[in-house]
Amino acid sequence: MVPDNTAVKKGTKKMAVPFLDLKAQYLQIKNEVKPEIEDVLETCYYVLGPKVKNFEEKFAELCGVKHCVALSSGTAAVHGMIWATELPAGSGIITPPNTFTATAEGIVLAGHVPVFVDADPVTWNLSAEKTEEFLKSCSSTGKPIDPKTGVEIKGIVAVDLYGQAANYQALEEIARRYGLYLYEDAAQSHDGSRFGRKTGSFGDVASFSFYPGKNMGAYGEGGAITTDNDEIAARMRTLRDHGSQEKYFYNFIGHNYRMSAFQGAVLGVKTKHIHTWNSNRIKVAERYRSLMSELPVELPVTAENTRHVFHLFALHTPKRDKLREFLAARQIGAGLHYPEPLHTQKAYRYLGYSSGDFPVCEKNAKQNITLPMFPELTEKQQDEVVSAVEEFFRKG
Ligand SMILES: Cc1ncc(COP(=O)(O)O)c(C=O)c1O
Repeated sequence: MVPDNTAVKKGTKKMAVPFLDLKAQYLQIKNEVKPEIEDVLETCYYVLGPKVKNFEEKFAELCGVKHCVALSSGTAAVHGMIWATELPAGSGIITPPNTFTATAEGIVLAGHVPVFVDADPVTWNLSAEKTEEFLKSCSSTGKPIDPKTGVEIKGIVAVDLYGQAANYQALEEIARRYGLYLYEDAAQSHDGSRFGRKTGSFGDVASFSFYPGKNMGAYGEGGAITTDNDEIAARMRTLRDHGSQEKYFYNFIGHNYRMSAFQGAVLGVKTKHIHTWNSNRIKVAERYRSLMSELPVELPVTAENTRHVFHLFALHTPKRDKLREFLAARQIGAGLHYPEPLHTQKAYRYLGYSSGDFPVCEKNAKQNITLPMFPELTEKQQDEVVSAVEEFFRKG
């Protein structure tokens, strides 16, 4: 993770630039984190406990909601938020196929059926227009029935892809009209906002991941749900602890989705810094956009009145495989998020989709490339990335 600035090519000194530098951030907060970790060690309160409770309170405040329930991972959070809403088994839940597998996995783990709808070609988030169109087209009986699987659609999971909130104003209205639950997968958008509302506050309930590489990353696995709904929060608290409110007495079948106290301690510290770190990410993104405005690539677009927190800075170009190779040769870290949409993956073949069903998500998969992005990225490092991208296109 620490940049190796020793790359030398053809006599010219080139600087290696990592995709992500977790050490740079750790060094900033090390003096705050260490006593918190020490506290956990001294109190021997290793699971949930005061550190996790403190984090839950602070994170709920950050999201502008009543409840945060801390969990063991973002995957547990997607599963948990759907599970806690107690839909009838085998319900259809709409989601975009251009997301990390955990989004659709959470639907399946909760006993339901993913129903894919294409993304918006500008923001790459679930298209509200296509969601509406699809629901209209399959509601001739008065209820929305997925034509592929025959299941009744009961919910929508939108994803804040790359750090930008989906179009919740429209999606909330659609969900209300069709009587659907609306879930927000906010794994990539901590501290984002849209029209003055924070991510984690949209729909009925939201899920977060605190995987180390996320904008707000734990020092291990972590996740949470956030909601204003008292019942969903209470149900999730019980589900994360084996369906138990009183030790060794079980009201229903749950799971072990409890957060480790070490992660609560780290995240309690990070909650104080996330806004500043994200503001730095936004500056990095603006500088990338201005330096690359003349290049033949599609740059990321921030929607109106949106705080896009740039978990990832994704470009789109038909030459992305060659560009990635070129950057790798220059020791510049670049990623693919994600290289294949879910509807054509083997794991989801049973749903009956095929290539060509979702052209926007398919283009997203074929053409995206994500560049180094973290709050501590220096202008020098960024210049190195941009000059490599420029050189690639100059050489044709
Ligand atoms: C959109 C999305 N949802 C869910 C998850 C799952 O989170 P975790 O890795 O913490 O289980 C991720 C993590 O990459 C994600 O990006």
